[in-house]
Amino acid sequence: MHKVESNGAEIPALGLGTWDIRGAQCVEIVAEGLRLGYRHIDTAQGYDNEREVGKGLRASGVARDDVFLTTKVWHDKLNAGALERSAEESIARLGVDHVDLLLVHWPNPDVPVKETMEAMARVRRSGLTRHIGVSNFTVPLIDEAVAVSPEPIVTNQVEYHPYLDQTKIMDACRRHGISITAYCPIARAKVIGDPVMEEIAARHSRNPVQVALRWLVQQPGVIAIPRTSSKTRLAENLDIDGFSLTNDEMAAIADLARPDGRIVNVAWAPEWD
Ligand SMILES: NC(=O)c1ccc[n+]([C@@H]2O[C@H](COP(=O)([O-])OP(=O)(O)OC[C@H]3O[C@@H](n4cnc5c(N)ncnc54)[C@H](OP(=O)(O)O)[C@@H]3O)[C@@H](O)[C@H]2O)c1
Repeated sequence: MHKVESNGAEIPALGLGTWDIRGAQCVEIVAEGLRLGYRHIDTAQGYDNEREVGKGLRASGVARDDVFLTTKVWHDKLNAGALERSAEESIARLGVDHVDLLLVHWPNPDVPVKETMEAMARVRRSGLTRHIGVSNFTVPLIDEAVAVSPEPIVTNQVEYHPYLDQTKIMDACRRHGISITAYCPIARAKVIGDPVMEEIAARHSRNPVQVALRWLVQQPGVIAIPRTSSKTRLAENLDIDGFSLTNDEMAAIADLARPDGRIVNVAWAPEWD
């Protein structure tokens, strides 16, 4: 799997999402994922599984330095001081001495972006994270974050899959040299049974999940972090390197986007426009 270069970071284009996977199952999935070849793990303070992600990392036998590890700061901890403490606590729970990427999980309209990005920069300068980034930032927010951040932003993690057009935010991020990390990349398995996805998958002797992931990582500057709690599907989702989609197939999948395609709607989400 190739790496995406973004403002000084090299991020494996396929990562393993861990939302909603907890306890012993999380330890096992992370360890097995790494044994199978995943080299990028996505967790968050808010997932209540950082301890288990760290245990899985150690149980895998894969060297810490070979893994790109991301965690996030929850939106109620974006003030100066609280943010640094949150990062320290995450790192202690993970049992590592640093993460590779620390993200602002969601923007918080009550905290100035400048205050948050300055705190993120302090965490980076203290060595607790190699890179910093954001998640769920709209175009105006990403422009503001870039303008005020003392350290480079390497990714904006946003919902992105065949049913959601993200052209505007992708254009803004590209303008700033920032990668997009696609969450819900397989639309929580809704791509399965979609006639367009099934037809393209059959043409390549693949399945629609693999086609959705291929479609994402084939776009410049895009990273995908699918989640699965199944060891079989872990291997399946990783196996997306041996084929490529034609320009027509890429366009046909992009055409599946629809106005109500967004899956994650939370009370604290910003206005997407
Ligand atoms: N920054 C944010 O605000 C944010 C928000 C949401 C998610 N995320 C991150 O993004 C990651 C991915 O998003 P997500 O977990 O919401 O959704 P997703 O990866 O699009 O979909 C996960 C679902 O698809 C199923 N699945 C996975 N592979 C499959 C396959 N090959 N065949 C059939 N079903 C399959 C899984 O079920 P099984 O477990 O049964 O396989 C699970 O129910 C999260 O885990 C998290 O790390 C971030």
